[in-house]
Amino acid sequence: MIGTRSSHLDADALKVRGLCRAFEGILALSSIDLTVRRGELVGLMGPNGAGKSTLVNLITGFDAPTEGRILLGSVDVTGWSPRRLASAGMSRTFQHGHSFPMLSARENVEVAALGVRINPTAARTQTDEIIELLDLGDWEDTLAGTLSHGLERLVGVGRALATQPSFLLLDEPAAGLNEVEGELFASVLERIRAERNLGIILIDHNVPLMMRCSDRVHVLSQGTTIAEGTPDGIRTHPVVVEAYLGVT
Ligand SMILES: Nc1ncnc2c1ncn2[C@@H]1O[C@H](COP(=O)(O)OP(=O)(O)OP(=O)(O)O)[C@@H](O)[C@H]1O
Ligand SMILES: [Mg+2]
Repeated sequence: MIGTRSSHLDADALKVRGLCRAFEGILALSSIDLTVRRGELVGLMGPNGAGKSTLVNLITGFDAPTEGRILLGSVDVTGWSPRRLASAGMSRTFQHGHSFPMLSARENVEVAALGVRINPTAARTQTDEIIELLDLGDWEDTLAGTLSHGLERLVGVGRALATQPSFLLLDEPAAGLNEVEGELFASVLERIRAERNLGIILIDHNVPLMMRCSDRVHVLSQGTTIAEGTPDGIRTHPVVVEAYLGVT
């Protein structure tokens, strides 16, 4: 890892305890407990409106919980700003986020690296590594706005990796990808896992992809946890089958 910053907590686990979020009195999330360890991929599933993005927004500081705690290792990071959390090792992609269209793929990643690190040389080296890891070398000088949807999503993942996270939260990074792009994404995810010791939360509606990629699966419905466990346990869980058709 290059240029590790003093504010980086290098935590072994991300823990969410009793997290609640109410919007105008209506609970979007209720008493959520979730733990992700370094090296582990937790699949976060649930129907539309279940509260998945709300949970990611809370964990990454883009929204504040009504109740509950977020811990990075033993440090309580509840209420920290997104920037402070990014420096501490938390990173995310956005469900509806876009890269800077008028910057190249490479510049998009480098700008994100510079956002948490002042040393331009370290940012450049970090960008080189990410371009290679994501196999974006052929497109590094292409304007992000002209890339295919699948490649643009990978640039988004590259931007998230540029902050040297310990924990990476991916909000539907494979949404809208065709079958070939989806396979490419799954293989890139495998490579990220093999080469970087990250704790990952992955949100997606593609059940086979989630079952294949996840070590554990956490299922939300209407803001509450309805099941959690291994992919095999979840696949046949009666409550999940009822709430989330197609899991059988
Ligand atoms: N800023 C907000 N103000 C009011 N209600 C909100 C806000 N953000 C989310 N909600 C509500 O919280 C609930 C959970 O929304 P959220 O976006 O977290 O769901 P999701 O599981 O990510 O759904 P999807 O699969 O469609 O992305 C929904 O009922 C939504 O309308
Ligand atoms: Mg969402």
